[in-house]
Amino acid sequence: MKIILLGAPGAGKGTIAKLLSQFDGSVPISTGDILRAAVKAGTEVGKEAKAYMDAGDLVPDSLIMKIMESRLGEPDCEAGFILDGFPRTIAQAEELKKLLEKLGINLNVVVNLEVPREVVLDRLTTRRTCSNPECQEIYNIKSNPPTPEGTCKKCGSPVIQRDDETEEAIINRLQTYNQKTAPLTGFYEKEGLLKNINSVDSKETVEEIKKAL
Ligand code: AP5
Repeated sequence: MKIILLGAPGAGKGTIAKLLSQFDGSVPISTGDILRAAVKAGTEVGKEAKAYMDAGDLVPDSLIMKIMESRLGEPDCEAGFILDGFPRTIAQAEELKKLLEKLGINLNVVVNLEVPREVVLDRLTTRRTCSNPECQEIYNIKSNPPTPEGTCKKCGSPVIQRDDETEEAIINRLQTYNQKTAPLTGFYEKEGLLKNINSVDSKETVEEIKKAL
C-alpha cells in the first residue's frame, strides 16, 4: 500500500501505521520519529530541528523535503509505505506530488483520522514512547501500558514522555495543526484521494483502511 495518514497530534497516526505495516509489510515512515532519532543522535538535522519540535512548531519545509526525498528513494519503500506526519503543509504536499510523479508512484488513498479534541488531549497526556530511536514503540498508560517497571515490551529500553508533551507545547501543536495541516484535507479531496475515518477504535480503523485500498 502507498498511503498517507493525516490527523491531529494524538489522533493515532503512529499507532495505525504500525498496525497497518503488520498487514502487508509496507514500511511505516514517521517524520516525527526520524527527527527525534536525529535529535538523540545529535546530527546537524537534529540540532536544527530540536527547538522547533520542543516548542510544538513545524520544522522548516526545506529540511523535511530533504529528509523525505532521500527516505522515499530507499529500496524498502518499493514494498509500500505508510506516511505518518508528512506532508504537513500545502507546500510539502505540492513538493511530494512532484516527487511521486518523478518516482512514478501513485498513492492509493489519503486517510484523515478524525478524533474529538478531548480524546486527543487525553491521549497526548497519557502517551509514553520507547526511548530507543530504533524502536520508538508507542504506549499509553491507560489503554496500552509498558511493563510495570516502565520499560518497552519489545526492546526493554526505558519508556519516556516526549519533550513536546508539555501542556504549552501540546496546545501549540494543536493550533499549528489547525492552521497549517488541516487544510490538506481540501488539497487531497480535490485530488480525489481523501477518505475521512472516525477513528476511535484502532482495529476498526485498520479494517476500514484495508477496504479503501
Ligand atoms: P509527530 O511525531 O508526527 O507528532 P504528531 O503529529 O504531533 O503526532 P503524534 O505522534 O503526537 O500523535 P499520533 O497521531 O501519531 O498518535 P499516536 O499513535 O502516538 O511530530 C512531532 C514534531 O516533529 C512536530 O510537532 C514537528 O515539530 C516535527 N515534524 C514532524 N513531521 C513534520 C513535518 N512533516 N513538517 C514539519 N515538522 C514536522 O497515539 C497517541 C496516544 O493515543 C498513544 O498513547 C496511543 O497509545 C493512544 N491511542 C492511539 N489510538 C488509540 C485508541 N484507538 N484507543 C486508545 N488509545 C489510543
